Amino acid sequence: MTSFSKSEIIELISQGEDEAEGLFQKAARVRNETVGNHVYFRGLIEVSNICSNDCFYCGIRRSNEKVRRYQLRAPEIIECADAVAATGITSLLFQAGERHDESFISLMCECTAEVKRKYPSLCVTLCLGELERDQYRRLFDAGAARYLLRIETSSEEHYRKLHPGEMSYKNRLRCLRDLRDLGYQVGSGVMINSPFQTLENLAEDILFLKEMDIDMCGMGPYIPHGDAPFTDVPYSAPEALFMGLKMIAVLRLAMPDINIAATTALEALSPQGREKGLRAGANVIMPQFSPQAWQADYMLYDNKPCGDDTPGELIESLAGVCRACGMVPDFNDPGHSLHFRKRIKYGNTG
Ligand code: 5AD
Repeated sequence: MTSFSKSEIIELISQGEDEAEGLFQKAARVRNETVGNHVYFRGLIEVSNICSNDCFYCGIRRSNEKVRRYQLRAPEIIECADAVAATGITSLLFQAGERHDESFISLMCECTAEVKRKYPSLCVTLCLGELERDQYRRLFDAGAARYLLRIETSSEEHYRKLHPGEMSYKNRLRCLRDLRDLGYQVGSGVMINSPFQTLENLAEDILFLKEMDIDMCGMGPYIPHGDAPFTDVPYSAPEALFMGLKMIAVLRLAMPDINIAATTALEALSPQGREKGLRAGANVIMPQFSPQAWQADYMLYDNKPCGDDTPGELIESLAGVCRACGMVPDFNDPGHSLHFRKRIKYGNTG
């Protein structure tokens, strides 16, 4: 593990293409030596695009009236989980816009419990935003083992520029602490190259994730959405992708034993985005299992990829991507974060 100072991180993420190649190789080597060269898969199910938040960067923010809103019903959600289980993948992710209403929370508890009843060894991860501690507890008790909540930026001042005044950085921190305290395996991350962000912010983001002692990370480049307030494109797609890869590599060196996802945003910027993410130190891929009919309605940013491959084809092509970078696609192992396994005293590992 490398203990970086802020200025060292700034230097690394300022590197040009040739130098950065060495950084990526080093990060991939450290990954292989620490968590191994296996790639873990999470079947992603986008349960609903209804959202009570109004983040300035996001395509499904509540003020975007152009979005065709949907909410899957319990049987449809379980059908998606069946499709994940049928491929042999042992970990799934329920993602949705943020909702606090009882009907939604109880639906997610019900679906989590049903998945655990049908497939006891299928690990359930949630990405449902900022909830009350008691709601997190109920979801944990229903069987959810992991939770992803990006801090988006570790700077409170920068956070205020990305979110309306009704949202608070402090509450997001409270959520991350509650999740950890309740026994979840906790993931966080940031948006890279988001508006108003500085290199210093990005360096502080790495230090923040380390300080928070996270188990997993999903972070990807910001990509504009035409119907969100921020429409400027401050960086070209190759520049944004490149910065995303350098952040993955530096985080891998700073936190060698966590799980790091090669996110969809990387793929949106380049057809080889995920492969490049793996080559830069990532070890997790999240293939899409949402119903085809709704995938295009979960548009966080423009041109978010929605495949028309069947799950079988998708898995086969992703396995090829893993092998192309000398990694082993691993469907059978739920891929708990090594970092979590080291620190765990209690928690749902099933
Ligand atoms: N570009 C990139 N990522 C985005 N997200 C939301 N909007 C965008 C965007 N325009 C990310 C946020 C959120 C995750 C679900 O999607 O980081 O946490």
